[in-house]
This record gives sequence, C-alpha cells and structure tokens, in this order.
Amino acid sequence: MDSFEFYNPTKLIFGKDQIEKLKAEVPKYGKKVLLIYGGGSIKRNGLYDVVLTYLKEIEAEVYELGGVEPNPRISTVRKGVDICKKEGIEFLLAVGGGSVIDCTKAIAAGAKYDGDPWDFVIKKAEAKEALPLGTVLTLAATGSEMNKGSVITNWETKEKHGWGSPAVFPKFSILDPTYTFTVPKDQTIYGIVDMMSHVMEQYFHNTKNTPLQDRMCESVLKTVIETAPKLINDLENYELRETIMYCGTIALNGMLSMGYRGDWATHNIEHAVSAIYDIPHAGGLAIIFPNWMKHTLHVHPKRFKQFAVNVFDVNPDGKTDEEAALEGIEKLREFWTNIGAPSRLADYNIDDSQLNVMAEKAMAFGEFGNFKKLNKEDVLAILRASL
Ligand code: NZQ
Ligand code: ZN
Repeated sequence: MDSFEFYNPTKLIFGKDQIEKLKAEVPKYGKKVLLIYGGGSIKRNGLYDVVLTYLKEIEAEVYELGGVEPNPRISTVRKGVDICKKEGIEFLLAVGGGSVIDCTKAIAAGAKYDGDPWDFVIKKAEAKEALPLGTVLTLAATGSEMNKGSVITNWETKEKHGWGSPAVFPKFSILDPTYTFTVPKDQTIYGIVDMMSHVMEQYFHNTKNTPLQDRMCESVLKTVIETAPKLINDLENYELRETIMYCGTIALNGMLSMGYRGDWATHNIEHAVSAIYDIPHAGGLAIIFPNWMKHTLHVHPKRFKQFAVNVFDVNPDGKTDEEAALEGIEKLREFWTNIGAPSRLADYNIDDSQLNVMAEKAMAFGEFGNFKKLNKEDVLAILRASL
C-alpha cells in the first residue's frame, strides 16, 4: 500500500422517510437557502413539494435555481453564483442526480470567489472555501453525494473537466431509495454502468499488497452484477433500489481506494467525448471501458485475470493470463449489453470525423492514467476501437 490520509466529513442519512431530517440539518447552516434542481423530475415525482414543505416549516427563506442540465454547464453555475452573491445565500440544497450536485458544488465555491468559477475547472484557481451545501440524491450513479468531486461542461468551448476541493464535500446527503423509483430504465442502466466503472477505475492499479481493497472492490462489483438485472425489470422494488443506491455511494466516496491511486483514464476520455456530443456520461463509459481494458491489458495481465476470475467467475484452468483476462473483458461487455447499455460510438451516431478533436481534448492536461500513462496515440487507438 501507499501511505494515505482519509478524510470524508459528509454525514450520510440513508433510508425510507429520512427526508424529514432536512428540518434538523438545514438550520445548522443558515436561513437563506438556494434550492437547486434539474429539469423537472423532482416536480413530477412529488419530491419538490416535500422539500419545500419542510423548508417552510423551518421558516427558511428559499430561492430557487431550476433547470440544471445533465452534464451541467458553467453558464448555469454562473447564474447560481450571481444569485448567491446578490441575495446573500447562506446554504445550498441540491435535490437531484450527479449533475445537480456537481453544479451546486461549483456554485458553492464560486460564491466565495472573486473570479470566474470556470477557473476551478481548468485548474487556474483552487477552491479554498465554499458556501455549505447539502444534497437530496435522486439517482444512484456518480457518488457525488459523498465526495469532493464535480464535473462541469463549458458548452461554448466544448470542454468538460472534473475538479474538486475538500471545501465542497456536502455537509450532509439524504438518500431515500424511494425517490429513485421514478428514474427511467435507461438512466437506471447508466447509473449501474457508472458505479461499476468507478470501482474498476480504482481496481486497476499497480500498487502491491491491497488484498482488502481488492476484495471490497470485487464485492461491490459482484453485488451490482447480481442486483442490476433484477432491478431493470422491477424499477419500483425498494430493496433492489436500496442496494444499488448504497453501492453507488460506496463506489466513489474514497473508501475503496485507501492506499493506492486509481487509473481514471476512461473517465477522462469519456469527458472528452461528452464535451463534444453531450451524450450520457455512462453511455460513453460503457463503450470505452472494455476498449481501454484491451488496450492496457499487457501492462499487468494478472490483474485482469484476477478481475475475470473473482468478479465474473471465469475458470482460469488451462488458459494463459491473457486468455482468462480477455474472457473477463468479454463477460463485462456481455453483461452491459444484456442490461441494455450501448457498446459502440455508432449507437450515438458518432463517426470518426471528430476523433482527433476528442483526443486533443482528452490531452488537455497532458498524459494521463495511473495504471498506464496514455498519450494521444493511445487515446486515438481506444477511440477507434470504440467506433
Ligand atoms: O434533470 P432532471 O429533470 O432531474 O432529470 C434527470 C436527468 O434528466 C433524471 N433524473 C434524476 N433523478 C431522477 C430523474 N428522473 C426521474 N426520477 C428521478 N428520481 O436523470 C437524468 C440524468 O441526471 P444526471 O444528474 O445528469 O445523472 P447522473 O447522476 O448520472 O450525473 C451525471 C453527471 O455527473 C458527472 C458526469 O460527468 C455527468 O456530468 N460525474 C460526476 C462525478 C462526481 N461528481 O464524482 C463522477 C462521475 O464519474 C461523473 O463524471
Ligand atoms: Zn463516472
């Protein structure tokens, strides 16, 4: 293992009817609350009314910013920052999926900064302080509810990057699986692919002696693999939603990667794709990840063999490490295809015309990936294999 520090101050409030705890949590941070949400799903499923009722009961002064886009845009972040500065907002409440939460994190930091919040995203400035924020999660996928990361898109310049700061850890996150019942099948599938990808981004590393971490990662993956096919045919099953929601949080709250650094190259390539084509984040991951695996398999075939055997029950007898590893990658592809995830960029009508632009965008901050450092040629090869 590498030496490490672990810090995660987010209070997780999980389970049925826990939403009422808003009344105890919000007043700790202030009365002037900016409620931030997406394109209307929370109005359709009744959560908006529930949240407003509780905020009224504690006599909060509520301002609103709705319409946060999937792949949230810096233009919306700027709008939120303006509201915060003009109205003297004290607390931000994000109600939605990863996009709403990521946007809220950027607003929280932007509200305490004199310049343009895009500076954080392009690493021109560090977010040293932020307004306090809390979340009510409505979609199990990103883990943003319990981490310090945020991903923001600049639609004008077609750039999408992740950034993060300990200042934007949510103070609390309320996760009631009931409010994920209305997540449509396609978004449920994307969430499943995203959380699996987060575990795999961490699992593929070259650090020695991580037996507990390996087993924790494998357990999360096996749990998702066991649960997902049932859930996509039974979207309002509380227990299945509960399991998946918990997996999504554990997958990216830092618990799995103590003592080593994950890879994260596939996420970087995907962000370059969705910066240009605005496709769902995990749709891109489902297409790219198996191709990244095939491209990097030679670095550490035993690691991929372990993945194949321990996660997908591949029988290694009589096979080379590479053969067993490739079988595991095929099983992953098969699993994602069977639950309904896309497998080729062509599924989103993406052809080879922008390959070079995407590769250049992926290289914005230089070579990347910790399992294997990727250069532009590597990225092009992975994208070509994904067409
Ligand atoms: O906008 P509304 O109307 O709320 O609808 C959303 C949106 O259309 C809908 N939805 C959410 N909860 C729902 C629901 N529909 C019905 N019922 C509900 N309960 O689902 C759609 C997608 O929502 P979005 O928030 O975009 O999805 P997700 O949570 O997958 O977030 C994706 C974003 O997170 C970033 C991605 O790049 C992407 O921009 N990521 C953030 C990470 C982080 N902060 O740690 C890590 C991830 O790897 C990822 O990159
Ligand atoms: Zn992701």
